[in-house]
Amino acid sequence: MADETHAKLDQMNESVETELREAQITEAEVAVHWSEEEYYNPSLQFIAQANFTDPTIYDRFSEEHFPECFKEYADLLDWYQYWHTTLDTSNPPFWKWFVGGKINACYNCVDRHLAQYRSKAAFIFVPEPEDEPNIAMTYQELYVRVNEVAAVLQSLGLKTGDRVTIHMPMVLELPITMLACARLGIIHSVVFAGFSGQACADRIVDSGSRILVTMDGYYRSGTMLDHKVKADEAVEASARAGHTVEKVLVWRRYPRQYQSQAPMVEGRDLFMDDLLQEHRGARVEPVKMPAEAPLFLMYTSGTTGKPKGHQHGTGGYLAYTAWTSKMIQDIHPEDVYWCMADIGWITGHSYIVYGPLAVAATSVIYEGVPTYPDAGRPFRIAEELGVNIFHTSPTAIRMLRKAGPETPLRYNHQFKHMTTVGEPIEPEVWRWYYHVVGKEKAVIVDTWWQTETGGFLCTTIPAIHPMKPGSAGPALPGIYATILDDDGNVIPPGAGKAGNMVIRNPWPGITQGIWGDPDRFVQTYYARYNKDRNSKDWRDWPYFAGDAATQAGDGYFRILGRVDDVINVAGHRLGTKELESAVLTVEEVAEAAVVPRVDELKGRVPDVYVSLKPGYTPTPEIQQKIVKAVEELIGKIARPKNVYIMPDLPKTRSGKLMRRVLASISNGQDVGDVTTLANPDVVDLIRKSVRGDD
Ligand code: PRX
Repeated sequence: MADETHAKLDQMNESVETELREAQITEAEVAVHWSEEEYYNPSLQFIAQANFTDPTIYDRFSEEHFPECFKEYADLLDWYQYWHTTLDTSNPPFWKWFVGGKINACYNCVDRHLAQYRSKAAFIFVPEPEDEPNIAMTYQELYVRVNEVAAVLQSLGLKTGDRVTIHMPMVLELPITMLACARLGIIHSVVFAGFSGQACADRIVDSGSRILVTMDGYYRSGTMLDHKVKADEAVEASARAGHTVEKVLVWRRYPRQYQSQAPMVEGRDLFMDDLLQEHRGARVEPVKMPAEAPLFLMYTSGTTGKPKGHQHGTGGYLAYTAWTSKMIQDIHPEDVYWCMADIGWITGHSYIVYGPLAVAATSVIYEGVPTYPDAGRPFRIAEELGVNIFHTSPTAIRMLRKAGPETPLRYNHQFKHMTTVGEPIEPEVWRWYYHVVGKEKAVIVDTWWQTETGGFLCTTIPAIHPMKPGSAGPALPGIYATILDDDGNVIPPGAGKAGNMVIRNPWPGITQGIWGDPDRFVQTYYARYNKDRNSKDWRDWPYFAGDAATQAGDGYFRILGRVDDVINVAGHRLGTKELESAVLTVEEVAEAAVVPRVDELKGRVPDVYVSLKPGYTPTPEIQQKIVKAVEELIGKIARPKNVYIMPDLPKTRSGKLMRRVLASISNGQDVGDVTTLANPDVVDLIRKSVRGDD
């Protein structure tokens, strides 16, 4: 089997398909270069055990049955009270799902499983140091811990509707804190641990959180990172913005063994383990929340500098993530499921915590990086724990492939199901995932969705549809996806033309809006195709996703990349404006433009172009200052690949920076006609200094 696989791999590598990547850059009309007929079927073994095998669902979820069809999703949950209105469209595009219903997300993820699964692991925590034991936490223990933390939150005066910011790494205490919030109807706002103190502060201030929950330190690539220092920075930066963080709750990764460089601040900082002493054995009743009450905020980058706090509701979001976890992820309670994403992103919220727990999964939480100490780590974990459902991103797949293309074959892991999410996956990378990681036994779902969408929108249903490398698949039942050109005309399936990815209808997982900024919400997602702002008919409110895509004759969507100013670095969304604002904080910088450069591993990475204020000359120190500013204000994930200091940047006669021209230079493409620019000569100069050609 191994030899055969290697031979196949060699063959594939010879027929490298780079068109997809180029297509993402140009975002122009895209002809479909690869074979449309490359389909892979799920195995009979997979189909025989699958949770979902009923193709008639598409009829049941056709437009004539909308929105009542989604009752099927909500029926996976336990409700205190059923809803009277499935979808309230009285204030478009602020949709409300299952109105009148009463529910608690924590109850659905924890309490209701106790009768049947009390002693089953809800989570298995895998610390990064390999000599440390894993921790399996049963549903019963999770219940106990969540109740105690809820009691702590209550004792601090927190109540339903308050916001709490959680800036924590991948440890068990993160979902415990989230679920404790959900139990009380407190809206959590989790900030990715890799984000800087300043980025955390921006989110604290925007959400109005008075409490920050953090951790003293955690392991990453073999080093204990001091995380508490970021909390101090976040509190100080919040104060500078006029906002007071009253309490900082500090979990300890190794209670009383590790000391952060940031000492506890008297009266402000409290150790969670101390607080918990006072609440041992406490029980807190779950609050019966209205279905449409917000469950959490998740910030994501947009086209302007400020990140958008997307608000997800309780009933609709949980119904949507529960259904997709069961039917698309094919999670059965006896499976061991591992999503390698970070809980600090939407993927972790929906598909490590809420969706999987709602269907009584055993969900693995891994602290570290997949390639540390070597590319065999994920497969050792999978083998040791018996992981049979594996979920990761194209960047992680590319990194594992690069670090050890044959490594997976040395391990005895057995996956039945694998997911890819967050970026387009190149067919050649998909095939490696299929043949080498999945050993030709696992089905793959390429799930296209967004922070805003709460859960998957386009993917194959694993036991129903054949897979096609590089294509996400058809839209899910009840998702009426289409591709529109800029004028709103439908680009029909099979036309071989790219356009804007649009969903014509609301669905239960959709964002409820941007926290504190309803106008920006309407403007960003609906202004493009809505023609009548007063219409109460959902058909008049197509959702503009911000992605370019093509749809093949078989109905499968192929996502090409963002059409806006968002750069997708390793599956993480970064706004060019956010990056440029960070660069502009460097004293010497006069102008800055950030553009995406295609990267072999991360999909895209930021290239920074700047010009300096008069009197300054380019130096390596200025370049370093720029890199440092980006890392400090946003985080290491945003680290620029290159910083180019130029005498001037290309501009139109009205003074608009021509990022497109710079992106072409970064990616070795033709810059097109630049004669109409205000300063065409500078383009040549930049091209020569970046690419070194004449
Ligand atoms: O461009 C699309 C890309 O990631 C964006 C959403 O990013 P975020 O909100 O951070 O959520 C990531 C996890 C869902 C999309 O607009 N994207 C997401 N999934 C895919 C994808 N691009 C191609 N294929 C996918 N499967």
